[in-house]
Amino acid sequence: MRYNNIRYSVVILFCLLFSDGFAQELIANVYGRNVQSLNGKWDAIIDQYDQGRKNKIYLNKKPEGKTDFYEYSFDHGLRLNVPSDWNSQSPELHRYEGTVWYARRFDAKKEAGKRLFLYFGAVSYRSRVYLNGKEIGKHEGGFTPFQIEITDQVQNTNNFLAVEVNNTRTVDAIPAMAFDWWNYGGITRDVFLVSTPKVFIEDYFVQLDKRKADKIDARIKLSENAANVNIRIQIPELNVDQDLTTDNKGFAKVSFNVKKLQRWSPDSPKLYKVIISSKDDKVEEMIGFRNLYTKGEDIYLNDKPVFLKAISFHEEIPQRKGRAFSEADAVMLLSEAKALGCNMIRLAHYPQNEYTVRLAEKMGFMLWEEIPIWQGIDFENEATKQKAGNMIREMVMRDKNRCALSFWGVANETQPSEPRNNFLKYLIETCKAVDTTRLMTAAFDLVRFNKEKQLFVMDDPFIQELDVVAINKYMGWYHQWPLAPEKAKWEVAKGKPLIISEFGGEALYGQLGNEDVVSSWSEDYQATLYRDNLKMFRNIPNLRGTAPWILFDFRSPFRFHPTNQDGWNRKGLISDQGFKKKAWYLMRDYYKNIK
Ligand code: GCU
Repeated sequence: MRYNNIRYSVVILFCLLFSDGFAQELIANVYGRNVQSLNGKWDAIIDQYDQGRKNKIYLNKKPEGKTDFYEYSFDHGLRLNVPSDWNSQSPELHRYEGTVWYARRFDAKKEAGKRLFLYFGAVSYRSRVYLNGKEIGKHEGGFTPFQIEITDQVQNTNNFLAVEVNNTRTVDAIPAMAFDWWNYGGITRDVFLVSTPKVFIEDYFVQLDKRKADKIDARIKLSENAANVNIRIQIPELNVDQDLTTDNKGFAKVSFNVKKLQRWSPDSPKLYKVIISSKDDKVEEMIGFRNLYTKGEDIYLNDKPVFLKAISFHEEIPQRKGRAFSEADAVMLLSEAKALGCNMIRLAHYPQNEYTVRLAEKMGFMLWEEIPIWQGIDFENEATKQKAGNMIREMVMRDKNRCALSFWGVANETQPSEPRNNFLKYLIETCKAVDTTRLMTAAFDLVRFNKEKQLFVMDDPFIQELDVVAINKYMGWYHQWPLAPEKAKWEVAKGKPLIISEFGGEALYGQLGNEDVVSSWSEDYQATLYRDNLKMFRNIPNLRGTAPWILFDFRSPFRFHPTNQDGWNRKGLISDQGFKKKAWYLMRDYYKNIK
């Protein structure tokens, strides 16, 4: 996409030069294309000491002569579901960190003038892909899609596909060595075989102007630098039927005014069918149109100030102790957010699957997406910075046509430093090289109570780089009250909108009483904590949203207490078995009373 300027090409050049993966441009809207699913049972080998690549097991050799000998086979062994994490599929893999090889065979319809791509929705955390005995690509990052063109490597029948997956935590990774969620590994999202014409519509960006309520901007890119190709963009319900012609880079762009546009909002999540076609290709997608910007301390959606009644959730189904990956999982998580009365979701702490993002848009949730820059990242490592740049660009490229996407988050609880500031500024630039319309934010845990001033304050000049400042603050849990909650006054990020992106405390469902005892892990104490925080929120002058941490109890190796936690973070408003705790009702009523 020819977006703005040299900066964009410099950013991309860096990504291409330093990316650990292979930098094929992502095909936009794979879910709207002609795909063959490769989901299902795959053969697997647990390679705990990383011997597989050295022994070239991706060749899938079988003994032929009497003296042939191969100390492996993919047949008749472990079978794993794809998509899914491996942790929830076998007790021996529950805490496994290391390499697992996945393999399957598939047939492919090779057609003249057609191209074939392997598309992975996500593989956690790093992967190498082998087709018919040859390494064809690799990727790092557990939460964003990637694809590999196989047009010339694939055969009509009996292709052997092997994927080497490793989820070992490393200092230079994102996230790094310790994070408060389960380190699920595996081919955790859909795998598709995507067929396209030789020259296809590779990418497009169709959205309402940042401020104007009747002007739509459309940018389209072909897969090749093909000039003078006619492209058509139609939005039938708005009587839009525009013809464009590509330049010598295969780009085309147009802006046009529309009448009677129904702008998307949580209360009215209107989406329009958008059809983009060329002589050889056609892709369509439901796209919404809305205006989103800040003015002083307010966030404006469609020219009206909005208060964000938010909630966070991890990409996890607690009852299954597994990562969420399907449409059914998305329905379960989002129905609970709707029941709570939310109009926004912080998809913590990493880009979640497309079913969740697309359904959230259909159901009317504004979204915050982030890459897992979670606490201790190796900010001084250039390679880590490039990896983060790749990840955030993959996230923005995947979801830039989702009008529900309102916030790009660049960090969670990072500490002020020159390397951290440079790293995060690079991420902001990388986001803006693709999309300049969404609000940039980050979550900080730096608010402190200043005794002299009797004020909650924060000192981190980096917030000047952001449109919206988000604060994680656990008053009544990690921090006890220095004064009565209703007397707590804040002076944080004056002049900018502020969201409380995390607050809350733990409770074991069904444990009652002790409403004033923090270590009781009781529902009654959690309810006290919520009541106290809601009182404090009244005294934050630039508060424009709240997001309790968190919708459901979730798995975490951090959480050692044998009876109250047992490997679960119990801050959920809903238990791991799906039962609402007392605090859930407090939050539901708080949101119901916000007009
Ligand atoms: C942090 C962090 C969360 C974590 C939470 C907690 O703020 O952002 O990822 O789960 O605190 O301690 O429960």
